[in-house]
Amino acid sequence: MAEANLPKTLVVVDHPLVLHKLSLMRDKTTPSAVFRQLLREISLLLAYEVTRNLPMTTQKIETPLTEMDAPILKGKKLVIVSILRAGNGLLEGMLDLLPSARIGHIGLYRDPVTLQPVEYYFKVPSDIDERPVIVVDPMLATGNSTAYAIKKLKEAGAKDVRLVCLLSAPEGIRRVAKDHPDVPIYTAAVDSHLNDHGYIVPGLGDAGDRMFGTK
Ligand code: URA
Repeated sequence: MAEANLPKTLVVVDHPLVLHKLSLMRDKTTPSAVFRQLLREISLLLAYEVTRNLPMTTQKIETPLTEMDAPILKGKKLVIVSILRAGNGLLEGMLDLLPSARIGHIGLYRDPVTLQPVEYYFKVPSDIDERPVIVVDPMLATGNSTAYAIKKLKEAGAKDVRLVCLLSAPEGIRRVAKDHPDVPIYTAAVDSHLNDHGYIVPGLGDAGDRMFGTK
Protein backbone atom coordinates (compact mmCIF):
# COMPACT_ATOMS: atom_id res chain seq x y z
CA MET A 1 0.00 0.00 0.00
CA ALA A 2 3.01 2.30 0.45
CA GLU A 3 3.48 5.07 -2.14
CA ALA A 4 6.67 5.75 -3.98
CA ASN A 5 8.63 8.97 -3.43
CA LEU A 6 8.27 9.08 0.32
CA PRO A 7 11.04 10.89 2.20
CA LYS A 8 14.28 9.20 3.18
CA THR A 9 13.54 10.00 6.82
CA LEU A 10 10.81 7.33 6.78
CA VAL A 11 11.50 3.93 8.42
CA VAL A 12 8.74 1.34 7.91
CA VAL A 13 8.96 -1.30 10.63
CA ASP A 14 7.28 -4.08 8.63
CA HIS A 15 8.30 -6.97 10.87
CA PRO A 16 5.88 -9.93 10.55
CA LEU A 17 4.87 -9.71 14.22
CA VAL A 18 4.14 -5.99 13.88
CA LEU A 19 2.05 -6.48 10.73
CA HIS A 20 0.11 -9.42 12.18
CA LYS A 21 -0.74 -7.50 15.34
CA LEU A 22 -1.64 -4.41 13.30
CA SER A 23 -4.10 -6.42 11.18
CA LEU A 24 -5.82 -7.58 14.36
CA MET A 25 -6.04 -3.94 15.49
CA ARG A 26 -7.55 -2.84 12.17
CA ASP A 27 -10.38 -5.38 12.46
CA LYS A 28 -13.43 -3.43 13.64
CA THR A 29 -14.65 -6.36 15.75
CA THR A 30 -11.52 -6.29 17.95
CA PRO A 31 -12.62 -5.18 21.45
CA SER A 32 -10.94 -2.25 23.25
CA ALA A 33 -9.09 -4.40 25.77
CA VAL A 34 -7.48 -6.47 23.01
CA PHE A 35 -6.82 -3.33 20.93
CA ARG A 36 -4.93 -1.76 23.87
CA GLN A 37 -2.91 -4.90 24.52
CA LEU A 38 -1.92 -5.18 20.83
CA LEU A 39 -0.91 -1.52 20.73
CA ARG A 40 1.24 -2.06 23.80
CA GLU A 41 2.96 -5.04 22.19
CA ILE A 42 3.58 -3.23 18.88
CA SER A 43 4.88 -0.16 20.75
CA LEU A 44 7.57 -2.24 22.37
CA LEU A 45 8.72 -3.46 18.96
CA LEU A 46 8.68 0.09 17.55
CA ALA A 47 10.66 1.29 20.59
CA TYR A 48 13.28 -1.33 19.80
CA GLU A 49 13.73 0.10 16.29
CA VAL A 50 13.65 3.80 17.17
CA THR A 51 16.37 3.34 19.79
CA ARG A 52 18.63 1.29 17.49
CA ASN A 53 21.14 4.13 16.94
CA LEU A 54 21.23 5.69 20.41
CA PRO A 55 24.77 6.83 21.30
CA MET A 56 26.83 4.33 23.31
CA THR A 57 29.83 4.45 25.60
CA THR A 58 31.55 1.88 27.80
CA GLN A 59 31.83 1.38 31.52
CA LYS A 60 34.35 -0.73 33.36
CA ILE A 61 32.63 -3.58 35.19
CA GLU A 62 33.67 -6.86 36.73
CA THR A 63 31.94 -10.03 35.57
CA PRO A 64 32.33 -13.07 37.85
CA LEU A 65 35.35 -13.96 35.66
CA THR A 66 37.16 -10.76 34.75
CA GLU A 67 37.10 -7.01 34.21
CA MET A 68 35.65 -5.63 30.97
CA ASP A 69 34.66 -2.39 29.24
CA ALA A 70 30.94 -3.02 28.91
CA PRO A 71 28.77 -1.12 26.41
CA ILE A 72 26.11 1.10 27.97
CA LEU A 73 23.88 3.93 26.74
CA LYS A 74 25.61 7.31 26.71
CA GLY A 75 24.21 10.54 28.13
CA LYS A 76 20.96 11.38 29.85
CA LYS A 77 17.86 9.18 29.73
CA LEU A 78 15.59 9.84 26.80
CA VAL A 79 12.22 11.55 26.89
CA ILE A 80 9.05 10.05 25.47
CA VAL A 81 6.50 12.71 24.56
CA SER A 82 2.91 11.55 24.20
CA ILE A 83 0.52 13.55 22.08
CA LEU A 84 -2.74 13.26 24.03
CA ARG A 85 -4.84 11.36 24.14
CA ALA A 86 -4.08 8.50 21.77
CA GLY A 87 -0.30 8.84 22.27
CA ASN A 88 -0.71 7.32 25.73
CA GLY A 89 -1.40 3.93 24.16
CA LEU A 90 2.00 3.91 22.49
CA LEU A 91 3.67 5.33 25.61
CA GLU A 92 2.71 2.31 27.73
CA GLY A 93 4.50 -0.22 25.54
CA MET A 94 7.54 2.02 25.14
CA LEU A 95 7.84 2.27 28.92
CA ASP A 96 7.89 -1.53 29.17
CA LEU A 97 11.19 -1.38 27.26
CA LEU A 98 12.43 2.01 28.54
CA PRO A 99 11.23 2.16 32.16
CA SER A 100 13.60 5.00 33.16
CA ALA A 101 12.54 7.35 30.36
CA ARG A 102 11.28 10.81 31.26
CA ILE A 103 7.80 11.60 30.01
CA GLY A 104 6.31 14.68 28.38
CA HIS A 105 2.71 15.39 27.37
CA ILE A 106 1.30 17.63 24.69
CA GLY A 107 -2.46 18.12 24.61
CA LEU A 108 -3.75 18.82 21.12
CA TYR A 109 -7.04 18.27 19.42
CA ARG A 110 -7.92 18.61 15.79
CA ASP A 111 -10.46 21.30 14.98
CA PRO A 112 -13.05 19.18 13.12
CA VAL A 113 -13.66 21.88 10.50
CA THR A 114 -10.19 23.27 9.76
CA LEU A 115 -8.34 20.03 10.79
CA GLN A 116 -5.77 22.40 12.39
CA PRO A 117 -4.25 21.63 15.83
CA VAL A 118 -5.50 23.41 18.95
CA GLU A 119 -3.16 23.20 21.98
CA TYR A 120 -4.53 22.80 25.53
CA TYR A 121 -1.56 21.32 27.44
CA PHE A 122 2.25 21.30 27.23
CA LYS A 123 4.59 19.84 29.86
CA VAL A 124 8.04 18.42 29.14
CA PRO A 125 11.26 17.99 31.20
CA SER A 126 13.15 21.29 31.57
CA ASP A 127 16.41 19.73 30.32
CA ILE A 128 14.85 18.35 27.13
CA ASP A 129 17.69 19.97 25.14
CA GLU A 130 20.12 17.39 26.64
CA ARG A 131 18.04 14.29 25.90
CA PRO A 132 16.94 12.30 22.86
CA VAL A 133 13.19 12.81 22.39
CA ILE A 134 10.76 10.24 21.00
CA VAL A 135 7.38 11.70 20.04
CA VAL A 136 4.57 9.13 20.01
CA ASP A 137 1.35 9.61 18.07
CA PRO A 138 -0.47 6.50 16.78
CA MET A 139 -2.06 8.03 13.66
CA LEU A 140 -0.05 10.30 11.32
CA ALA A 141 -2.95 11.61 9.23
CA THR A 142 -2.72 15.19 7.91
CA GLY A 143 0.45 15.66 9.93
CA ASN A 144 -0.72 19.09 11.10
CA SER A 145 -0.83 18.23 14.82
CA THR A 146 2.36 16.22 14.74
CA ALA A 147 4.33 18.90 12.88
CA TYR A 148 3.00 21.47 15.36
CA ALA A 149 3.98 19.31 18.36
CA ILE A 150 7.52 18.85 17.03
CA LYS A 151 7.81 22.61 16.42
CA LYS A 152 6.83 23.24 20.07
CA LEU A 153 9.39 20.69 21.28
CA LYS A 154 12.14 22.34 19.25
CA GLU A 155 11.12 25.73 20.68
CA ALA A 156 11.50 24.14 24.14
CA GLY A 157 15.06 23.14 23.17
CA ALA A 158 14.76 19.59 21.81
CA LYS A 159 17.53 18.83 19.31
CA ASP A 160 17.38 15.06 18.72
CA VAL A 161 13.73 14.32 17.90
CA ARG A 162 12.38 11.03 16.52
CA LEU A 163 8.75 10.32 15.69
CA VAL A 164 6.93 7.01 16.20
CA CYS A 165 3.50 6.47 14.61
CA LEU A 166 1.62 3.22 14.39
CA LEU A 167 -0.06 4.02 11.07
CA SER A 168 0.68 6.79 8.58
CA ALA A 169 -0.82 8.39 5.49
CA PRO A 170 1.49 9.67 2.73
CA GLU A 171 0.09 13.20 3.25
CA GLY A 172 1.14 13.25 6.90
CA ILE A 173 4.56 11.81 6.23
CA ARG A 174 5.26 14.46 3.58
CA ARG A 175 3.97 17.24 5.84
CA VAL A 176 6.21 16.28 8.78
CA ALA A 177 9.21 15.70 6.51
CA LYS A 178 8.72 19.12 4.88
CA ASP A 179 8.58 21.00 8.21
CA HIS A 180 11.11 18.76 10.01
CA PRO A 181 13.52 17.12 7.56
CA ASP A 182 15.82 16.29 10.50
CA VAL A 183 13.21 14.10 12.25
CA PRO A 184 13.15 10.38 11.35
CA ILE A 185 9.64 8.89 11.17
CA TYR A 186 9.14 5.29 12.35
CA THR A 187 5.86 3.65 11.40
CA ALA A 188 4.44 0.14 11.08
CA ALA A 189 2.59 0.86 7.82
CA VAL A 190 1.90 3.53 5.23
CA ASP A 191 -1.75 3.38 4.18
CA SER A 192 -3.40 4.54 0.97
CA HIS A 193 -4.87 8.01 1.62
CA LEU A 194 -7.02 10.24 3.86
CA ASN A 195 -10.80 10.48 3.48
CA ASP A 196 -12.72 13.79 3.52
CA HIS A 197 -12.77 13.79 7.34
CA GLY A 198 -9.01 13.36 7.59
CA TYR A 199 -9.18 9.67 8.55
CA ILE A 200 -6.58 7.21 7.31
CA VAL A 201 -7.91 4.65 4.77
CA PRO A 202 -8.04 1.68 5.21
CA GLY A 203 -6.74 2.65 8.69
CA LEU A 204 -8.29 1.44 11.92
CA GLY A 205 -10.78 4.21 12.71
CA ASP A 206 -10.34 6.67 15.58
CA ALA A 207 -7.42 5.33 17.62
CA GLY A 208 -8.48 7.13 20.80
CA ASP A 209 -12.05 5.87 20.60
CA ARG A 210 -10.95 2.31 19.85
CA MET A 211 -8.44 2.43 22.72
CA PHE A 212 -10.69 3.94 25.34
CA GLY A 213 -14.06 2.58 24.15
CA THR A 214 -15.52 6.07 23.81
CA LYS A 215 -17.69 5.34 20.78
N1 URA B 1 -6.77 9.99 13.99
C1 URA B 1 -7.30 8.75 14.17
O1 URA B 1 -7.51 8.32 15.29
N2 URA B 1 -7.56 8.00 13.09
C2 URA B 1 -7.34 8.43 11.83
O2 URA B 1 -7.60 7.68 10.88
C3 URA B 1 -6.80 9.72 11.66
C4 URA B 1 -6.54 10.48 12.75
